[in-house]
Amino acid sequence: MLELHNIRKSYGTQQAVKGISFAIRAGETLGLLGPNGAGKTTTVSMIAGLIAPDSGEVKLDGRSLGGDTDPLKARIGLVPQDLALFEDLSARDNLSLFGALYGLQGAALNGATAEALSFTGLTDRAKDKVKTFSGGMKRRLNLAAALLHDPDLIILDEPTVGVDPQSRNAIFEGLEALKARGKTLLYTTHYMEEAERLCDRIVIVDHGEVIADDTVAGLTRRLPLRNVLRLELENPPPGAWAEELAALPGIVSVRLEAAVLSVGLAELGPGSAAALGWLTTRGIAIAHAHTERADLETVFLALTGRTLRDA
Ligand SMILES: Nc1ncnc2c1ncn2[C@@H]1O[C@H](COP(=O)(O)OP(=O)(O)OP(=O)(O)O)[C@@H](O)[C@H]1O
Ligand SMILES: [Mg+2]
Repeated sequence: MLELHNIRKSYGTQQAVKGISFAIRAGETLGLLGPNGAGKTTTVSMIAGLIAPDSGEVKLDGRSLGGDTDPLKARIGLVPQDLALFEDLSARDNLSLFGALYGLQGAALNGATAEALSFTGLTDRAKDKVKTFSGGMKRRLNLAAALLHDPDLIILDEPTVGVDPQSRNAIFEGLEALKARGKTLLYTTHYMEEAERLCDRIVIVDHGEVIADDTVAGLTRRLPLRNVLRLELENPPPGAWAEELAALPGIVSVRLEAAVLSVGLAELGPGSAAALGWLTTRGIAIAHAHTERADLETVFLALTGRTLRDA
């Protein structure tokens, strides 16, 4: 549905986007992940036509996206990172204004406004001025404004930044409902757990370039270490026995801190069986055990050597 071909954008001498290419199929939810300043907002602004790329091309259904007046742009809804709302107007008046900008009027405008308010759980507060809203409610209204014209592709630029857990959940449920209706979503975030929950595929950008483009499972598979077995030991014996354990097949790493043994495994089943068997035969008792999956945060760290929350 959407294709980006080698798009570039510089601000003066600063190259914000250095040739980004990726594609999104209809109905797919793509996560665009990267740390602060990676070029996410610049990229989505070029897709939404807010800024023009220096070079490269954005295509929607095979057609090149033109300037401001291109009717293709009506198929895109953008939820901007910076709230675009009028504080002195009510929620409903804000939506009426944005709906009118999209060319809606009369009964169609009223219907779309009511639907967007209900969808984001703001019907009760429709008549209240936005300046009386919490940060989370403003974020929800910001989302409602992007849905009025029923776009096929919805671009969300960090829609949950600085929101309370209740609004975050409301936004998430809304996005899952849009997904279920077959909408195509482009979701920008630096929260790994959000991308893991919502997205079919992840594009990771860093310093204006794509460093990975894969499914969540595919990204996780790239790691030499996919699971960590954490064992609280009752009686860790002295000596260099941990090295002996690390030499077993399927075990990638072993670390002993106080009485907690962390065993990095390539495959959970065979690796944990080998580790537990080895400990048992040596009479090392286990007080508690649990496993952790390598998450996207670990993937990012493995790809870049840096953490995503670098703020
Ligand atoms: N209007 C602008 N003028 C000058 N430089 C800019 C402008 N907008 C962005 N930049 C720079 O371009 C780079 C990419 O910024 P961008 O906002 O696209 O990153 P981002 O991935 O959205 O970051 P964040 O997670 O903080 O929102 C940054 O170095 C930023 O300082
Ligand atoms: Mg941004």
